[in-house]
Amino acid sequence: MNTKHSFLTESLIGLGSLLLIVSALGYYILNEPIRIVQAQDEVLALQLDEAMTLYAENCAVCHGLSGEGMGATPPLNNPALLTMPYEDLYKTIARGRYQTAMPAWSIEDGGALGDYQIDELVLLILRGDWGATGDRVVNLGLAPLIPFTTEVDPALLAEVGNLSDGATLQTAVTLFAANCVSCHGADGLGTGIAPALNDPVVREKTAEEITRIITYGNTGTLMAGWSNILAPEDITALVSLVQRWDEIPLGTIPAPDVPIPVTEESLALGTQLYAANCSRCHGPEGQGTPRAPSLNVKSFLTDTSDQAIQQIITLGVPGTAMPTWGDRMTDSDIQAIVGFIRQWEPTAPEVATITRPGGGGPPWKNNNATTPSLLPSTKSTTTISGNSKGGQVTLRTLLDWRLLVLLGILLSLAFTLIYSGWDALRHVPRNAK
Ligand code: HEC
Ligand code: HEC
Ligand code: HEC
Repeated sequence: MNTKHSFLTESLIGLGSLLLIVSALGYYILNEPIRIVQAQDEVLALQLDEAMTLYAENCAVCHGLSGEGMGATPPLNNPALLTMPYEDLYKTIARGRYQTAMPAWSIEDGGALGDYQIDELVLLILRGDWGATGDRVVNLGLAPLIPFTTEVDPALLAEVGNLSDGATLQTAVTLFAANCVSCHGADGLGTGIAPALNDPVVREKTAEEITRIITYGNTGTLMAGWSNILAPEDITALVSLVQRWDEIPLGTIPAPDVPIPVTEESLALGTQLYAANCSRCHGPEGQGTPRAPSLNVKSFLTDTSDQAIQQIITLGVPGTAMPTWGDRMTDSDIQAIVGFIRQWEPTAPEVATITRPGGGGPPWKNNNATTPSLLPSTKSTTTISGNSKGGQVTLRTLLDWRLLVLLGILLSLAFTLIYSGWDALRHVPRNAK
């Protein structure tokens, strides 16, 4: 009897442990691909994250906010690129396209990017989220506000023709508006990504040095060489423009009125920066105070472009209490404030009203609670679908993982119950004896 019992017990224990081991092993094996996928997902997410910043810093200026292309520059969110062999994409970015504005990016070819970074950019083109990339570009203050090619003001261009050697300067102004303005800014006054060329310090450089930079570029920077695209006499004309820019009337190469895009993040930053730096003079809702004029007023907002507001904030208003903010805030900070001020426009009062001290508050809506949907230009850029898509993947794998653990626990619980039940059965008769 006893030997039979112990034999049964032992074989059941053996079977139980075998099943436990098998299920533990099965659980591990079943989970292995999930673990690998999770690790791969994490690496991919990290690479795509870095690629978005690389794109903002190096490519957005020509290929657009969200890879949509600008003017003659092709889109990178183009489905046709998804079927292009990986090597071809890699080579295009690494070596550039000869005789086009597409520069070579690999360090071996005089560019600024390592192999790993170029790899990440290829990944972005193949698997990236262009909505999230657009958000990144805006949050870094690198949204391209000047198209690759702009229109020259015809009346002022005619005036340039009256200067000495005016025809050369006219050629150069036209070339600048066609090739250089997106980086070097309207009237050559610079942008967040490239220095001003209309600048006394640059004017002092020798013609040889300026010629060398335009011809060969500056290795490791966004400034590519132009000898592929421009004839030597074009480059000579551009050099004389750079050296004589103080003679060219302002507004000859004007900035087009491109609204500064916003994201949820930039609006939050703008709200906070405005409250900390501007509200004490301009009022918490921009209603104005005795110290400074109202900004939340229809006429000001409709007559003043985003870029003009950005310029006022950056340079201040000399000779008044309006400080220069450009030396304490970055371009992206100032653009975030412009985005915050711009969202007042739909509800801005026709006439400036100063808040009555201690009164019932301003008669107009408190815009701090305004949703970004009021801004038509934000719609395409506030999508964070990429992030949520990544989130879903991890959530799903997590669920699977939890289910399996639960299953494992339930299985071992069942075994414990069966075994202890058998143990009790075995002991009861012995005690009763
Ligand atoms: C100075 C402007 C400029 C910059 C900056 C620039 N590109 Fe380009 N890119 C171009 C132009 C112009 C073309 C089209 C060349 C042609 O005609 O084949 C191009 C083409 C491409 C193509 C091939 C597209 C196609 O449809 O065949 C890829 C890929 C590309 N660029 C990626 C990048 C990446 C990545 C960056 C940033 C690291 C970048 N580009 C930065 C101007 C630029
Ligand atoms: C894709 C952006 C981009 C474009 C397009 C571009 N540049 Fe540049 N350029 C730069 C950057 C960035 C620098 C600063 C390089 C450095 O840090 O050395 C620069 C520097 C220069 C300089 C030297 C300025 C100095 O302070 O020494 C000159 C001159 C110049 N560019 C002329 C031109 C001309 C002319 C064109 C058009 C034919 C042009 N660039 C187009 C980005 C660009
Ligand atoms: C010390 C007080 C003070 C502070 C702080 C201040 N401003 Fe001003 N601001 C002024 C005054 C005064 C003017 C009017 C200047 C003039 O007479 O043209 C002005 C003008 C302006 C204008 C132009 C308005 C118009 O009708 O032309 C803008 C835009 C502006 N400020 C934005 C800002 C922003 C944004 C901040 C915060 C980053 C800020 N200001 C902080 C005093 C201030």
